[in-house]
Amino acid sequence: MKDKKIIVGITGGIAAYKAAELVRLLVKAGAQVRVAMTANAVRFVTPLTFEALSGHRVIRDMWGQEETTIDHITWGQESDLIIIAPATANIIAKMAHGIADDFLSTMVVAATAKILVCPSMNDRMLINPAVQNNLRILNERNFAVMVPGEGQLACRSEGPGRLPEPQEIVEHAWTLLSPQDLSGQKVLITAGPTIEPIDPVRYISNRSSGRMGFALAKAARRRGASVTLVSGPVSLMPPNGVTFIPVKTADEMKNAVMENRSGCNIVIKAAAVSDYRPKDRAQQKIKKGPDSLTLDLLKNPDILSELGDTKKQSPCVLVGFAAETEDLLANAEAKLKAKNLDMIVANDVSRNDAGFETDTNIVKMIFPDGHVEDSTLMTKDEVADLILDRIKSLK
Ligand code: PMT
Repeated sequence: MKDKKIIVGITGGIAAYKAAELVRLLVKAGAQVRVAMTANAVRFVTPLTFEALSGHRVIRDMWGQEETTIDHITWGQESDLIIIAPATANIIAKMAHGIADDFLSTMVVAATAKILVCPSMNDRMLINPAVQNNLRILNERNFAVMVPGEGQLACRSEGPGRLPEPQEIVEHAWTLLSPQDLSGQKVLITAGPTIEPIDPVRYISNRSSGRMGFALAKAARRRGASVTLVSGPVSLMPPNGVTFIPVKTADEMKNAVMENRSGCNIVIKAAAVSDYRPKDRAQQKIKKGPDSLTLDLLKNPDILSELGDTKKQSPCVLVGFAAETEDLLANAEAKLKAKNLDMIVANDVSRNDAGFETDTNIVKMIFPDGHVEDSTLMTKDEVADLILDRIKSLK
C-alpha cells in the first residue's frame, strides 16, 4: 500500500469509532490517508482523532473548511481508492441515486477512484427492501460492497449489520489496489515452525513466527490466486480468503502438502521444518533425574526434496527458503540444486532485522542459472510481493 492515496469517508453511525482503527492500519500499511466526515459522523467521533491519525486536516463541510475550493472534485479523482466506513443507509441511498448534498456525497459523484462501501446499520434497516435495492444498484455499478458482519449490534439487537472488522476492510482494500496478475493460479504455501514432541509437555521447535509465509499467502491472495496455506503452530490469524490447514509436526506438514499439491501452479516452502524429531515420544512427562539426559533423534522427511524429486509428475514453480547463519550464498545454492528448485530465497537469520520473528526481511533470490538478485531491507509484505513478481517471470 506504500504511497497509495486513500480517502476514508466516515458517516454517522455508531461504528464510526472503528474507523479510527481503520485509518491507523491504513497509515501503518504505508498509505497516504485523507479523511472526510459527514455532519452526523462528527457527532460520534471528533475530527481531531482522525487528524491525529492521518496527519491531515479532516474535511467535513463543503463550505469554508477545505484547502482549495474544488477539493470535492479533486479528492476523488486524485486518489486510488475511497473507502466509505461505516456506510449508513443514508449514504448508501445517496450514492445509489447520485445525490450530492454535502462534501462526501459530492466527492463520490465526481470520483474516478474505486469505491469500497462498508455498510453498517441496525439489522432491520439492513434488510429493508429499499436499502437492499440500493446495495444492489451499487453492486451493479461496480462499487465494491463488503458484506456486513453478524452478531450483537450497538442497538442491542442481534443479526447482520456490523461493520466488518478494520483488518478485513484493509485486506479488501489491498486486494482492490493490487494487480490481479495471479488470477487463476493455484498456490500452495507453507509457513511457521513444526513442533516435534518429546513428551506430553515438551517439544523441539524453532523461532519461526510464520510472518514470512503468511505475508506470501496474503500477497498471493490479494493478487487473485487461490491459496492454500499449511502452517505449523503460530499466533497469527489465518488470512481471509485463504484455505488454512494447521499442522504441528513435520510428518503432518508433509501429509498436508502432498494431499494439496495436485494442480498447484506454484509451491512456496517458507516453513522452518524441524530436521529431526525425538525417536521415542514419552507417554508421560519425563521426570527430573540424572545430571544429563540424552535424546535420540530421527531425521524427518525432507518435504521440499520430495517435491523436487517428483516435479516431473506434478509440474509447478517450486520455491524454497534457506535460513542460514553463515555462508549464505553457498549454502543456499547447494539447497537449490539438491532440492531441484526453480528459485531459493536465502535469508541471513543471524541479523536482528531479518529472518525469524521480525517484521522486515532482506533476501537473496537465487536461480538455477546462477543469477542472484539482492533485495533491500523491506517489510515482509513487500518481500512477499517481490518474490511473487520473480516467480511470475519464471512461468
Ligand atoms: O516465520 P518467520 O519468523 O517470518 O521467519 C521466516 C523464516 C526465517 C522461517 C523463513 O523466511 C525461512 O527462511 N524459512 C526456511 C527455514 C528453513 O527451514 O530453512 P532450511 O534451510 O532448514 O530449509 C530449506 C528449505 O527446505 C525450506 O524451504 C524448508 O521449508 C524446506 N525443508 C527443510 C527441512 C525439511 N525436513 N523439509 C523441508 O521441506
